[in-house]
Amino acid sequence: MKEIEEIKKEFEEKIKTKSIEELKKVETHFLGRKGKVVDLFKTLKNATEENRKNIGQQINDLKSYVEETISKRLKELEEIEKNKLLANERIDITLPGIRLETGGLHILSKVMKEVEDIFLSMGFDVMTGPEIESDYYNFEALNIPEFHPARDMQDTFYLAKKILLRTQTSPIQIRTMEKYKPPIRIIAIGRCYRRDAIDSSHSPIFHQVEGLVIDKNVSFSSLKGTLLEFTKKMFGEETKIRFSPSYFPFVEPGAETAISCVICKGKGCRVCKYTGWLEMGGSGMVHPNVLKNVNIDPEEYQGFAFGWGVERIAMIKYGIPDIRMFLQNDLRFLEQFK
Ligand code: DAH
Repeated sequence: MKEIEEIKKEFEEKIKTKSIEELKKVETHFLGRKGKVVDLFKTLKNATEENRKNIGQQINDLKSYVEETISKRLKELEEIEKNKLLANERIDITLPGIRLETGGLHILSKVMKEVEDIFLSMGFDVMTGPEIESDYYNFEALNIPEFHPARDMQDTFYLAKKILLRTQTSPIQIRTMEKYKPPIRIIAIGRCYRRDAIDSSHSPIFHQVEGLVIDKNVSFSSLKGTLLEFTKKMFGEETKIRFSPSYFPFVEPGAETAISCVICKGKGCRVCKYTGWLEMGGSGMVHPNVLKNVNIDPEEYQGFAFGWGVERIAMIKYGIPDIRMFLQNDLRFLEQFK
């Protein structure tokens, strides 16, 4: 009986352990095959007949008590362990998040898409052409012969004797008319190159949007209506358009086109240099020589064409003061248009 008491006391001490590993050892120590409780049963044979039953009962009680207590303690320790793990993995949802920067289209890409969408809505198709062009498409077929002074105006990057970086999107007119029969109604937006000195309005790399319509009964008023419609959609309903006589070898008559200043609404300001007008590019009725160069009969078909600067459109629409900003890749600039 005294031994039972002692074992119980020892057990009460050892069960206080805080580690699961330790607890397993305690279990073996008391309940294992050579454990203390099992040993107790062996002492039964020394007890007197009348005591045996009583002592046996008490050892059994001790055994159940030890078993139950250990399993209860094990559950407790496992719970503590689990909570510790959870505490480590806890996320404080009140902390400010980490903001991931998203990319966006370059402002020029956006403007080109706007331009395309407007002309698509007006029934135009979109064409493309190569940036490396031949002398024939960039000049000759456009009625700009070899010694024509217009070739001087376009300071050209030559790659070889008759191979160059296109100075305008107009060669796409020729490529289109060679490939498709009239009626033709297309625009072409693309990169152009000129050996211009760089300043706030000149860049050796820039973009143009070219328009070409060929059909029977196409007149100058079709040109005017088309550009006015585009202008209103791009810059606002109240915007006006002005044509003034100009010369381009591939059109006759040719006209410089301007829109009423979107900043001062035509009253005169710094942006329009107090003229009330902003120049956008050239236009005109396709020259009969150009039509002949692509085997279209100028007696049967007429057409109009125009070529506007894309950077110019973007600068006016979004109030961008310097053409160099498009190529500088300054995020402070680019992110304003995301
Ligand atoms: N390609 C001309 C330039 O770069 C602009 C131009 C003028 C295009 C008249 C045209 C046009 O289609 O008809 O200066």
